[in-house]
Amino acid sequence: MKITVSGGGLKTAVVILAAGRGERMNSTLPKVLHRIFGKPLLQYVVDSALALKPSRVIVVAGRHYKDIKDSLKGADVSFVIQKEPKGTGDAVLKAWVLLKGFKGAVLVMNGDAPLVTEATLNKFLGLHRKNKNAVSFISFNASNPASYGRVLRDDSGNVISIVEEKDATEVQRKINEVNSGIYAIESDVVGLLKEIPLNAVKHEYYLTDIIGIAGNKGCNVNAYCIGSEDELMGVNTMPELLKAQQAFRKRLVDAWMEKGVVFFDPDSVFIYPEVAIGKGTTIYPNVCLEGKTSIGQRCVVYPNVRIIDSVIKDGAVIKDSTVVEGSVIGARAVVGPFAHIRPGSDIGVEAKIGNFVEIKKSIIGKGTKASHLSYLGDASIGRDVNIGAGTITCNYDGKQKHGTTIEDRVFVGSDTQFIAPVRVGRDAYIGAGSTITKNVPPKALALSRAEQRNIEGWAIKRQSSVVSRQLSVKDKRSGRKKRGI
Ligand code: UD1
Ligand code: CA
Repeated sequence: MKITVSGGGLKTAVVILAAGRGERMNSTLPKVLHRIFGKPLLQYVVDSALALKPSRVIVVAGRHYKDIKDSLKGADVSFVIQKEPKGTGDAVLKAWVLLKGFKGAVLVMNGDAPLVTEATLNKFLGLHRKNKNAVSFISFNASNPASYGRVLRDDSGNVISIVEEKDATEVQRKINEVNSGIYAIESDVVGLLKEIPLNAVKHEYYLTDIIGIAGNKGCNVNAYCIGSEDELMGVNTMPELLKAQQAFRKRLVDAWMEKGVVFFDPDSVFIYPEVAIGKGTTIYPNVCLEGKTSIGQRCVVYPNVRIIDSVIKDGAVIKDSTVVEGSVIGARAVVGPFAHIRPGSDIGVEAKIGNFVEIKKSIIGKGTKASHLSYLGDASIGRDVNIGAGTITCNYDGKQKHGTTIEDRVFVGSDTQFIAPVRVGRDAYIGAGSTITKNVPPKALALSRAEQRNIEGWAIKRQSSVVSRQLSVKDKRSGRKKRGI
């Protein structure tokens, strides 16, 4: 009996399969929650599905249902539970319950193939509809096809079926064209899923069997070889996770180079997908740009720098081994080497934060310098302030945090402690080594160290007392010897 496909119009529903055991990962974390550049594999698939603006997206989750649901908080998706992972065919049937009455194409995607692009999916759906197929899938040529289902075609090139590695003959195993795990199934033929037999080897219902079943019923079945392995690869093992990450890194770096970013060792950089980088910026080796970080134009990011959820404005320089978290670095500011800018900080235009300086939740004004060995926490520091080496804000009294305010053009001598809360007025000076416990008025000099006292000839007196002590020790020893002790 030939099933006629009514052609449900342009509507698309997406079903994402994420209920498998993921045994080959040998991990305690569900496979689809392993991350590439901070984002779970499943989130990549969900994002590319949502980009198509489908009628709805359904995620099939299994034993780790709760973790999977939590990981997709806020995403416009529905969930169905497949209690027992009885195979990909069974998983789609579980989702079908939520699609009662839906007319159109059901795009089925494996949750473990994270790198497919919206462009490829759109092209695929276009071909599926143009050719009025009942069932279509995306295939690709795999460098090592061992972990994929092989595409069997007849002498004229028409798709006959998909055969899994375990069920394939020696000859079939040599086929390089493989199933990507992305299918378009017209709603009219979804019922055929019920005809899928239990696979004798794996005791699962293979979704891939729908190809042969639909073809045998005279339905239009087609495979489109339209993407690269780097885009369509599935992740089943840790080495495959690494391979996918490397492929994705290359895609991101290539795109940034295209946009005028300079890299010296792109294989060693980590760039999260939501990062933005401006033209003419240079990225040295071993740099991690994480979260929603944005780097401006003509910035330089030196080796071993990690920047998380931060904004680095045009022309800023981040020197070696610096960490910037949840902060803003102003235009042409210089930060590092070995600086730690902690969340909630705002470093002003042309400011300089140098060696071994830690800044926490502080505002640093334009042109202000803290060049060496300081801790500035909960501080608001004005413009053109000089913070001497070893300056520390004592912002925590054991119970609460308190603020330090230092107004414009203040000169803070080295080794100063500010016991917060405290305020220093503009143009004031703080003598080196001071412990500032009280507010300092504008233009004043604050000094809190003990006055220096010089004792003339002290070293000579010390020397002679040391010599006389040594002589008396010697005398005692020789006395003991004489007495035979
Ligand atoms: C599957 C395909 C194979 C294809 C490959 C592409 C089948 C039988 N084989 O093989 O032809 O080349 O993907 O990467 O479909 N899942 C469920 N419920 C289950 C079983 C699996 O939701 O009961 C989910 C998994 O979480 C995973 C996806 O389906 O996201 C694919 O399952 P997996 O076991 O990885 O299939 P493969 O062996 O990779
Ligand atoms: Ca897989």
